[in-house]
Amino acid sequence: MRKTYVIGNWKMNGNKAANKALLDGLKAGVPAAKAGVAIAVCPPFAYLESVIAETAGSVIGVGAQDVSEYDKGAYTGEVSVSMLKDVGVTYAVIGHSERRALFGETDEWVGKKTAAALAGGLVPVVCVGETEAERVGNQTEAVLAKQLDAMLAAVPNAAPGSIVIAYEPVWAIGTGKTATPEMAQETHAFIRNYIKKAGDAFAAETAILYGGSVKASNALGLFAMPDIDGGLVGGASLIVEEFVGVYNGAA
Ligand code: G3P
Repeated sequence: MRKTYVIGNWKMNGNKAANKALLDGLKAGVPAAKAGVAIAVCPPFAYLESVIAETAGSVIGVGAQDVSEYDKGAYTGEVSVSMLKDVGVTYAVIGHSERRALFGETDEWVGKKTAAALAGGLVPVVCVGETEAERVGNQTEAVLAKQLDAMLAAVPNAAPGSIVIAYEPVWAIGTGKTATPEMAQETHAFIRNYIKKAGDAFAAETAILYGGSVKASNALGLFAMPDIDGGLVGGASLIVEEFVGVYNGAA
């Protein structure tokens, strides 16, 4: 049985006071875990340790928004898998479209980061997704295939369920233009069928999250789809009522 994940990507937002207020609200709103449903938040690197301290003893996990492919040494500005594990991080979002578009992350780079995260004991949350131009140009499946191939090639022996994929249509991120449940399901089904090249068990056990303007009002409909296993939530994860509402939408 695949796990469901509701993961909040805070992006470059927050401060100590706001983080505490948000986490106090989330701990109150999600006092106990639902069987098979994991909840987590991904703050900026600067706040990882304080957020881990604030969430200690709660059901809320913590992830990083990126991770280095390198383990240590002269890589200024990088943060390694072992450092993230050292402070208690569980997840690593990898290959977010903003990192691909703004910071030049390539499919190959995403693959190397995924391999490092997996080898070091983190749960990689690997982001894939097409731009509006690619969707309009009927290139969605070709784009996703290229992104997925690079990831799969880097982790040939990944165990079923060890990697989480997040499908984030770029045109739905931060725009309020959420994919309809049917549209998202169609692409999730393509992704699940495509990753069968890594084995039927891998495909069956891999959680595929949807990301792109998820909020309390649309989570139930999205998560009801057979191949949508939760959400990677941006803006709504910064609002207690919204993020708790998204979590409540997960079966
Ligand atoms: O990683 C999740 C993020 O890209 C989605 O952002 O604000 O559309 O939920 P948002």
